[in-house]
Amino acid sequence: MNALGQPTGRAGHNLAGGFDVDRIRQDFPILSRQIHGKPLVYFDSGASAQKPHAVIDAMTQVLENEYTNVHRGAHYLSQTLTDRYEGVRETIARFINAPSENQIVITRNTTEAINLVAATYGRKFLGQGDGVVVSAMEHHANIVPWQMLRDEKGIELKVAPIDDTGVLDMDAYAALLDGNTKLVAITHCSNVLGTITPAAEIVRLAHDRGIPVLLDGSQAVVHGIVDVQALDADFYVFTGHKLYGPNAIGVLYGKAELLAQMPPYQGGGDMIATVTFEKTTYQEPPYRFEAGTPPIVEAIGLGAAIDYVSAIGMEAITAHEASLLAYATERLTAMPDIQLFGTAPEKAAILSFIQQGIHPFDTAATLDRAGVAVRVGQHCAEPLMARLGVDGTVRASLAMYNTTAEIDTMISALERARTLFG
Ligand code: ALA
Repeated sequence: MNALGQPTGRAGHNLAGGFDVDRIRQDFPILSRQIHGKPLVYFDSGASAQKPHAVIDAMTQVLENEYTNVHRGAHYLSQTLTDRYEGVRETIARFINAPSENQIVITRNTTEAINLVAATYGRKFLGQGDGVVVSAMEHHANIVPWQMLRDEKGIELKVAPIDDTGVLDMDAYAALLDGNTKLVAITHCSNVLGTITPAAEIVRLAHDRGIPVLLDGSQAVVHGIVDVQALDADFYVFTGHKLYGPNAIGVLYGKAELLAQMPPYQGGGDMIATVTFEKTTYQEPPYRFEAGTPPIVEAIGLGAAIDYVSAIGMEAITAHEASLLAYATERLTAMPDIQLFGTAPEKAAILSFIQQGIHPFDTAATLDRAGVAVRVGQHCAEPLMARLGVDGTVRASLAMYNTTAEIDTMISALERARTLFG
């Protein structure tokens, strides 16, 4: 039985019908593990989500029966695996409603996708004094590549502030879109606060001034439907491992006219048209940006993950996570010693908090003893921690396979932390 009770065998494909979290949990083998003698409560999906049988089996199948290199061989295995690999590009394009699979560049992760844009689009089109607007709640992956470009080209990094609930200050953002701003690079969903940013409005305001926009969808793509055409995003980036797929695969979507103007990222095999010692010419996008043997097995795994999520239905997943978020928020807010960070009206099921008087690492260690896996620290968002005025937080990031009973387990462990450390 798969997540929704379809008799499909172990792979758990062909999900349809209503949302049944107990059946979904059966698709994720790791969720039956015990940690410190307690059932695993996995609240660290924002860092990396667990994998369903559908993904594990698809990858195993390739490794056992179909593995070879792609784009290179005239032999049967290479041709069939190349077709499968390229089919994933189409799956990804459909998933985010990209106009064409040729606008889907396969990368290693979100970080590489943003670095790719900074190193190609950024180096070619941004120069001394040009501004790049980010927000106060960016992951380091959407800060550091622009700082490196600043060091190299003299661009200016401008930071759109947030209010105390974690909502982007849109007036301040709009004010930053002045004469020298040449690019906006903003998260679609904060990995720390869960804030879902008004991405379409962010893009509209930038486009009114002729400024292209990159959206970091690492968290957003997991928690809701993403339509890059409806958003009118110029670049949209995300990673496979938070989307129930494997690590070491990410995605850069770009508008065709932008990708066409961008120089290569890395040089090597697969990205070239012709090579002589005097001169090399390059392939068209997306291949121009994909040097070397790509993450073949990981791509198949990501394709399986997208099929799995799509079969369950993103609306159903979003609704389930919204009810978990409401319940967790209510329970955490009722605890007098909990300070919750990020209470935006539009937010995904990501809860960052501290326990008054208790070091976040002590809170996290107590949760761990209860089998509850959370992330603790700065969450690759040190400037945001400074804005919040804390050294770090505990972060519970929830996913489609989590339950209200697991939230109760976390609350009981937090009560225990208070008795131990409070
Ligand atoms: N970006 C990942 C997180 O937020 C690793 O935890």
